[in-house]
Amino acid sequence: MFGARCLLRALRSCSSAPCPRHRPAARVSVRGALGVQNANGERVTVQGWIRSVRSQKEVLFLHVNDGSSLESLQVVADSSFDSRELAFGSSVEVQGQLVKSPSKKQNVELKAEKIEVVGNCDAKAFPFKYKERHPLEYLRQYPHLRCRTNILGSILRVRSEATAAIHSFFKPSSKIKVPEENFFNIPVFLTVSGQLHLEVMSGAFTQVFTFGPTFRAENSQSRRHLAEFYMVEAEISFLESLQDLMQVMESLFKTTAMTVLSNCPKDVELCHKFIAPGQKDRLEHMLKNNFLIISYTEAVEILKQASQNFTFTPEWGADLHTEHEKYLVKHCGDIPVFVINYPRALKPFYMRDNEDGPQHTVAAVDLLVPGVGELFGGSLREERCHFLEQRLARLGLTEAYQWYLDLRRFGSVPHGGFGMGFERYLQCILGIDNIKDVIPFPRFTHSCLL
Ligand code: 4AD
Ligand code: MG
Repeated sequence: MFGARCLLRALRSCSSAPCPRHRPAARVSVRGALGVQNANGERVTVQGWIRSVRSQKEVLFLHVNDGSSLESLQVVADSSFDSRELAFGSSVEVQGQLVKSPSKKQNVELKAEKIEVVGNCDAKAFPFKYKERHPLEYLRQYPHLRCRTNILGSILRVRSEATAAIHSFFKPSSKIKVPEENFFNIPVFLTVSGQLHLEVMSGAFTQVFTFGPTFRAENSQSRRHLAEFYMVEAEISFLESLQDLMQVMESLFKTTAMTVLSNCPKDVELCHKFIAPGQKDRLEHMLKNNFLIISYTEAVEILKQASQNFTFTPEWGADLHTEHEKYLVKHCGDIPVFVINYPRALKPFYMRDNEDGPQHTVAAVDLLVPGVGELFGGSLREERCHFLEQRLARLGLTEAYQWYLDLRRFGSVPHGGFGMGFERYLQCILGIDNIKDVIPFPRFTHSCLL
C-alpha cells in the first residue's frame, strides 16, 4: 500500500484556492481527501468502491472507500444521478469539489459533479452484505474478496505499516538487508529459515536482517501455524550475551508496535474493539513492562508445581508445548517472557554450548507472548570450530557443512540472532485469534485456496 502522501502532495499543489473548472481534477486517495484541512472547493477525482448508498428526497449520499483508510469519503450527489446503478460494492470514479461538510461526522465531503460506474456489483449475489459485520470464519471462505471488508482492510493496513516499521527499525544503524534467493539450476528446497545465509553475511557486515516468506511442511491446522509465513530474522556479530540479543528482540517488538499504534490508530482500534475486547489494555501492559527472563529449568519447575493438569507432563529434557507456554505467560502476569538455556539435546547443532552440567544446555532463547505462545526463537551461535566439528560429526553432517565450518575457520566472531514470526506478531498486537486472518492468502496443510 503506498501513495497516500504523494497524492496528498498533488492535491496540495492546487488547494490554495478553488480551481477553475477547466483545470483537470487532481486524483486523490480517500485518505488524502479526508486529510485536507479547510476544504474550499478543490476539484478532485476519487476512485474506489461503494460502501454505502443512502438516498434522500433531494440528495444521494455515497460512501466510497479505496483501501487507503478505514474511513470512507462521503460523496453528496443530487437526485439526478441514477441511484440504481450506484450499488453497494460497485467500483466508481467520482469527480467533484471537496467542501467542508456540514455534518460533525466528517470534516470534508465530495460534492459530486460526475459519477462513473466503472464496474457494477450485483449486491444480492455479493457474499458480503451492507452494514453486516461478518465473522472472520465466514470471510475466510472468500480469500479473493475479503480484503474489501473493513476488518480485513484494517488488519492488512496494520500489516503493511508493521512491515515498514520493521524495515526502518533495522535501517538507521546501517544494518544490511539480505535478499532472498530466487532461482537455481540444481534441486533445492524452499527455505525454512534464512539464518545460515545471514550467518554468512554476518561474516562481513556486523548487523544483517532479512524479512521474507518461509516455508514449513507443518502438519498442523492450528490457529498459529501456516505452511507459508513471513519471518523477520536478524544476525548480529561481535555479540556475546543472550542479554544483548534479548534487548534487540524486545526493542523490535516494542518499537514496531508503537509505530503501528501511532500511524494507524483507527485500524488498531477497530480490531481491539470488535475482534478482541480488552486487547488495548493487554497491549499497553506488554509495552509498558520490561519483558521477563526465566531459564528453561525454572520454567519446568514452575510447570511441575502448577495445579493444572497438562496433556504433556512437564519434565526436564522435553519440549515445551503450547499449553505449557500459555501457562508460563499467565504465570508471568501476561508479560512477554524470554525462556533461555534449553537442553542441548532439544536444539539444533548451531546453538552455542553452555558447557554446563549435569544438565547440558545451549544458549537458546524463545520469547513467549500472551495469546500466541512462542513468537521469537533465537540463540547465540557456536562460533568455536572444534565444538561445531564435534557436533556435526555426531550428526553425520560434517561433509555438507564444510562451508559453515569455514565461517569459523576464517575470522570467526561470537554472534547471535533470532527469527520472529511476523503473522504471530500481528496476532499478538491486534488480538487476532487465528493466524489465517492476518495474512492475505493463508496456506496451510490441505488448504491452498489461492
Ligand atoms: O523458532 P524458529 O523455528 O526459529 C528459526 O527458524 C531460527 N532459525 C530463526 C533464527 O534464529 N534466525 O522460528 C522462528 C519463529 C517462531 O518463533 C514462530 O513465531 C514463527 O517463526 N514460526 C511460525 N509462524 C507461523 N507458522 C509456522 N509454521 C511457524 N513456524 C515458526
Ligand atoms: Mg522455535
